[in-house]
Amino acid sequence: MEFMDVISTRRSIRGYKSDAVPEAALEQMKQAVRMAPTGNNRQPFKVVFVRNPALRKEIAEKACHQAFIGQAPILAVVFCEKDSEFNAAIVTDHLVLTATAAGLGTCWVGWFERDILQTIILPPQGMSPCILVPIGTALENPAARPRKPMDELVEVLD
Ligand SMILES: Cc1cc2nc3c(=O)[nH]c(=O)nc-3n(C[C@H](O)[C@H](O)[C@H](O)COP(=O)(O)O)c2cc1C
Repeated sequence: MEFMDVISTRRSIRGYKSDAVPEAALEQMKQAVRMAPTGNNRQPFKVVFVRNPALRKEIAEKACHQAFIGQAPILAVVFCEKDSEFNAAIVTDHLVLTATAAGLGTCWVGWFERDILQTIILPPQGMSPCILVPIGTALENPAARPRKPMDELVEVLD
């Protein structure tokens, strides 16, 4: 897929088939995460791809307020160090766009109970959970959400 097609076809997906994510696609996502740029190359993050069904169910039920999260065959949990959310966001976008290019659906999920999630998956030393990303084959094909006019969001100063 052309890069700009990846950008323009990505959607937040809130319904997933139970089909497994191909190993090759998971490998590409792992590579994309690892190659993400970070400030001073500190790499202050860890991404845990949760395939274990019982763990995914527990996270969806106890830590999330959104049932679709438990449907996806993989739930990525992005952990980062304090004040490293910028870095974590870049890492997450690498992951999401790579999944899109592989024909998979994803959704950024920021609304979850961090305290509860930390009791289900122990965070790496000095880190806390930042973002969740369910990953799987989309069950839906949502239309593009509206965006503000270009000149409200972007300006070129010559
Ligand atoms: C940081 C962040 C957190 C988000 N958290 C949630 C969430 O908790 N639940 C959800 O359904 N969507 C969540 N979204 C998805 C947005 O609602 C979505 O990206 C936006 O409506 C634009 O739609 P699109 O992704 O299909 O272009 C989040 C997106 C971002 C970037």
